[in-house]
Amino acid sequence: MHDVRPDDFIIFTDVAKSFQIGTQQYTAIRDVTMSIKRGEIAMLLGPSGCGKSTLLNLAAGLIGPSAGQVVYDGALIAGLNAKVAYMTQQDHLLPWRTVAGNIAVPLEVAGLPRRAREARLDELLTLVGLTDFAKSYPNQISGGMRKRCALARLLAANRETLLLDEPFSALDAQLRLTLQAELLRICRKLNLTVMFVTHDIEEAAGLGDKCAVFQGRPGKIAKVFDNPLPKERDLMRLRFDPRHHAFTNELWATLTPDLQPPVSSPIALTA
Ligand SMILES: Nc1ncnc2c1ncn2[C@@H]1O[C@H](COP(=O)(O)OP(=O)(O)OP(=O)(O)O)[C@@H](O)[C@H]1O
Ligand SMILES: [Mg+2]
Repeated sequence: MHDVRPDDFIIFTDVAKSFQIGTQQYTAIRDVTMSIKRGEIAMLLGPSGCGKSTLLNLAAGLIGPSAGQVVYDGALIAGLNAKVAYMTQQDHLLPWRTVAGNIAVPLEVAGLPRRAREARLDELLTLVGLTDFAKSYPNQISGGMRKRCALARLLAANRETLLLDEPFSALDAQLRLTLQAELLRICRKLNLTVMFVTHDIEEAAGLGDKCAVFQGRPGKIAKVFDNPLPKERDLMRLRFDPRHHAFTNELWATLTPDLQPPVSSPIALTA
């Protein structure tokens, strides 16, 4: 059982969530117990439909648990959680605003003066590599660019916790790695707490300080792993690190217990 400390920052205790669909009660997750410390990056890894987004919705206070409790910074979450910035699985960019206009929304809501707003906007556009597309509209840019735009808008909100639902899923491998490294740098610098949903085992093993592997429907946590690597890690060099390989293999084995080959089987397929 995952070690849950009462002074942890985000704590799920015996959480279940059911939805009423017509006359049927459908249980999305059950018995979810895990906790996240302030400044930690927690990855949620598991197959489609096992309840990863549901867990983020609970942390955001968009929905409440059917059983158990969700505590954020010492208090039960009741209603919307204004301490988090949430990048949902759909990017929800505003089609009538340009890339720059979308990223500026939280800056405008926060009432930043024009000069400060423009300076911050420039920083964020550079960060996600969208300066040349600042004036484009969401329907004129690629799926990966939309993700980067949504990420910049999320960072503009300046919250202590990020909820990220597959934020890098539409990106090519190089850009993905660059943005992962950038996210890691920003999170460490600002001591941000992150809940990050992914299907990608490499991404989970690289970015996560801890990684909750989900299984089944209703979804439940099979195991929560702590990353053996230190918090300051160079994502560009991970593929040379045997500790990273061992960790990735552990995640694989937990995620796909039925697909594990016998230890003695050869890697090459014989004709
Ligand atoms: N508002 C809702 N009403 C009814 N059922 C829901 C609702 N939200 C989620 N569910 C159901 O709960 C289950 C878990 O959904 P969830 O979106 O959390 O899965 P997921 O792990 O994020 O999947 P994916 O990887 O495909 O995004 C699914 O079967 C889904 O249909
Ligand atoms: Mg989801």
